[in-house]
Amino acid sequence: MENTELNKVTQMPRIGDLAPDFEAMTTKGIIKFSEYAKDNWVVLFSHPADFTPVCTTEMSGFAQRKAEFDKLNTRLIGLSIDSIHSHLAWVNNVRENTGVYFDFPIIADLDMKVSKLYGMLQPNEHETAAVRAVFFIDPERKVRLIMYYPLNVGRNMNEILRVLEALQISDKHKVALPLDWQKGDKVIIPPPKTLEEMDERLADDSVEKTDFYLAKKELV
Ligand code: BEZ
Repeated sequence: MENTELNKVTQMPRIGDLAPDFEAMTTKGIIKFSEYAKDNWVVLFSHPADFTPVCTTEMSGFAQRKAEFDKLNTRLIGLSIDSIHSHLAWVNNVRENTGVYFDFPIIADLDMKVSKLYGMLQPNEHETAAVRAVFFIDPERKVRLIMYYPLNVGRNMNEILRVLEALQISDKHKVALPLDWQKGDKVIIPPPKTLEEMDERLADDSVEKTDFYLAKKELV
């Protein structure tokens, strides 16, 4: 099949879509995604191949910072188009070499069912290996943020945790987060929608204002 034809049949969930449900074999047994995701945030991420260097650093990064994901009520689930035997051997190999244990399910997507469902196969990058995708899925199973990285560039774990926390803070406090926002920084208050609200905002000295449409406050 031509690459362009493959592109046409690839499903790509978009921000705001319900995350597609599936059942898959993982290193923690068979998982039905809708049950795994129930009442939690989920970070679903793919890697191109087991026993490869960049992937090993990334998976180790997820494993080493799992407690931070736990604190954010977030379950991890990895994926690659490798067999369950390959996954088990790789998990054991990394544990023996470094002491780091991948204590979250990794999907063995040999038939590419889940990778196709989530647009993780991007054939102009690679025909049979998933790219480095990260899907941030909220407790309503809605896709809230998507990252795609190519095969040769590893992801940034600080950024993954930063945007996860940003999404949660935005939901909880009904605020937006500015450029380079880090936990503890001021947040953006939604801009006014009426002239009356605009005048109220202009008269409000309790917030840091650039103008009526750009105002920030501390989160207390
Ligand atoms: C890696 O993880 O190092 C890797 C995997 C697939 C292609 C290129 C690099």
